[in-house]
Amino acid sequence: MNELLTVTNPATGDVLANIELDNESTIERKLKVGHEAFKTFSKTSTYARAALLNRWAELVLENQESLATLMTQENGKPLAESRGEVAYAASYLTWFAEEAKRLYGRTVPANGTDKRLIVTRQAIGLVAAITPWNFPAAMMTRKAGPALAAGCTFIVKPAEDTPLTMIRLVELAHEAGIPEDVVQIVNGRGADVGPLFTKSPYVRKITFTGSTPVGKLLIKESAETVKGVSMELGGHAPFIICEDADIDAAVSAALASKFRNAGQTCVCANRFLVHEAIVDVFSEKFANAAKNLKVGNGLLPDVDVGPVINQKGFDKIVAQIEDAKRKGATVLAGGTTHHDADKGFFFIHPTVLGNVTLKMDIMHEETFGPVAPIMTFKDDQEAVDIANGTPFGLAAYFFTQDYRRGIHFQENLDFGILGWNDGLPSTAQAPFGGMKESGIGSEGGSEGIEPYLETKYLSIGGL
Ligand code: SIN
Repeated sequence: MNELLTVTNPATGDVLANIELDNESTIERKLKVGHEAFKTFSKTSTYARAALLNRWAELVLENQESLATLMTQENGKPLAESRGEVAYAASYLTWFAEEAKRLYGRTVPANGTDKRLIVTRQAIGLVAAITPWNFPAAMMTRKAGPALAAGCTFIVKPAEDTPLTMIRLVELAHEAGIPEDVVQIVNGRGADVGPLFTKSPYVRKITFTGSTPVGKLLIKESAETVKGVSMELGGHAPFIICEDADIDAAVSAALASKFRNAGQTCVCANRFLVHEAIVDVFSEKFANAAKNLKVGNGLLPDVDVGPVINQKGFDKIVAQIEDAKRKGATVLAGGTTHHDADKGFFFIHPTVLGNVTLKMDIMHEETFGPVAPIMTFKDDQEAVDIANGTPFGLAAYFFTQDYRRGIHFQENLDFGILGWNDGLPSTAQAPFGGMKESGIGSEGGSEGIEPYLETKYLSIGGL
């Protein structure tokens, strides 16, 4: 019998399941199986692969309620958010089912009459994916959709905190007709599975969503076998509100961006930069709205904010709040917790901090929790300088009704995803990816399939 992993509900600490972990030999066998399956799956027609992806999406949507319940149980997010994530996950499958049909090559004019030059693209090989606990379904389909559309085979390791949704998603893939050796799941600890994926000669691509330090390690380890890497890593999103902004619109976008998934998304607003002329009115409205959010078990009706995932996450968030308070921040909302380390649940009330300065840790580290620090700026250049003053470059938000300022922010913010008067820019049909230490490559959009393809050039001579 292999080692068992206990999966718990972060809202109650209750045990949900004990699942068997793969060991080195089962993982290596699955990698070989995925590699062998690639030889035939990559030769299937794109239309057949599109049909499989569409059928998988249909089954995901037919099972929306049960998948959402499972997700809320293991991740903690409110049921409405889980339902939304299931639909979001399905949208990546249908989007890439269509993109499969547009894997164009090209012919290139030769510099003589005796040659023809042809460029084609083909699937890269077996793809190994490592996915996070904050979006247990969508971060998998955002990778599996384009991989299968391109003709790759796929093996995925879900996060240890949330494997149950993924186990069900993979079952649904097989029910949809996708062969079992084409989509496989491996359960294990990241530190054990990561090196097996990166050193395997069968894996031609590693795709990862998670922290920047782990991403750097995977990039280093992948160099040995020169694998392709796609990395969706940490963020530290600025949320800039200019003095001409529609403040009510900014407040509701700020609530959605900051408190979705209890602040545990890579693109969450992490630093509120508010023009000094409007900081009082924005802070009051935002803090009042945050106080009205209902915190609790995501399965209960009307809950807006669930627990944070585990003690490690909780400790980091609380340390940032305490550090900010010690250095002069004022608590405008929240700042309190409801937790029991023995039972294993950790809630943090939506927290808004005022009088924040760059001396505070929260302005330099990703929080991954429901805490909104507010700092002021005097002019647009200062806002841009503070926003860009980080090694991260995933998402940034700016609120202004002036098109000149909007374009200035668009051109000068060094982030891969921008929301202009929009707190929720993520969608299957647009590219999602970071600059600097936030990642390599984009997922979603027409860009999202590129990392799963290789270019082949043919020169025909002697004509
Ligand atoms: C993430 O947090 O990594 C994903 C968030 C999203 O897709 O909006």
